[in-house]
Amino acid sequence: IKTIGVLTSGGDAPAMNAAVRAVVRIGKERGLNVKGIKKGYNGLLNEEIIDMTPKVTADSIMRGGTILLTARCDEFKTEEGQKRGAEVCKAHGIEGLVVIGGDGSFQGARKLAELGINTIGVPGTIDLDIACTEYTIGFDTAVNTAMQAIDKIRDTSTSHERCSIVEVMGRGAGYIALWCGVATGAEDILIPESFDGNLPKVEQQIIEHLLRNRARGKTHHLVVNAEGVGHSYSMAKRIESATGIETRATILGHMQRGGSPTAKDRMYASMMGAYAVDLLCAGKSNRVVGYQNGKFMDMDIQEGLAMTKHIDDYQLQIAHLLGK
Ligand code: F6P
Repeated sequence: IKTIGVLTSGGDAPAMNAAVRAVVRIGKERGLNVKGIKKGYNGLLNEEIIDMTPKVTADSIMRGGTILLTARCDEFKTEEGQKRGAEVCKAHGIEGLVVIGGDGSFQGARKLAELGINTIGVPGTIDLDIACTEYTIGFDTAVNTAMQAIDKIRDTSTSHERCSIVEVMGRGAGYIALWCGVATGAEDILIPESFDGNLPKVEQQIIEHLLRNRARGKTHHLVVNAEGVGHSYSMAKRIESATGIETRATILGHMQRGGSPTAKDRMYASMMGAYAVDLLCAGKSNRVVGYQNGKFMDMDIQEGLAMTKHIDDYQLQIAHLLGK
């Protein structure tokens, strides 16, 4: 193998740059040419391909976002798009490809592998929702960013003796909410994994909890809500009218995806990027890099995609008790 490519795809995540940098530097170290594909699979189809040198990735390890830019690409979900993607790789001499992204991006990587391009997935998403790995690049930074924002909301909420509902990202997963909820001492944490769709029931539980806490002199009530549960604004209205306690909702939104990555994210991203290059050098394809039981590892993409992730029951139970 002489030439490899690297792209970032789907939602960006802090420390994707560290992963790209590791691919470039370890690639060079192993004697490979490295090409950067801009804007994910979109850029592949449009042949937005640049030569990567350590100079291109210089000063990027501490920056949020992705220097390669990213996109979600519907065209690449079609057979035609995938075939064209493989052709573009071949035309540019790209024999191996590192795809940094989430589950959706790995589906594309699997297709490219079937079409003869050796591909390796690297888990990059703030959501931590990839089942075959205990760690995804960007999660630690996003949780810390959200935690700091929630701490600030809590200050003003306490001063006004209000109830606050803060909605965090995570798509269909509640990891960011669970971690932020525990880390900020939230009274209630709502996550899709333990939500049965009965919003009135959940609201009633919050109302009773809020009134109980008020009766014993608590001046604030913080609810961390995952976007997978949602409805934060309407929930706030109903809680306020049922209790007479001022309630505000804040949706943190995309600020959670930005910012300078934490040391932990930079470290994991660097290791995973390097690991992906070494898999390609060993002739491997259709693998996804992960972190399990204290070690970096890899597994078949198909197998990884078929796995499901469960939030630990003990963690959930303790998170609930801590907010009681
Ligand atoms: O997957 C990362 C993520 O930030 C999710 O938490 C969120 O649901 C989604 O992306 C938002 O996507 P977009 O930036 O396309 O609105």
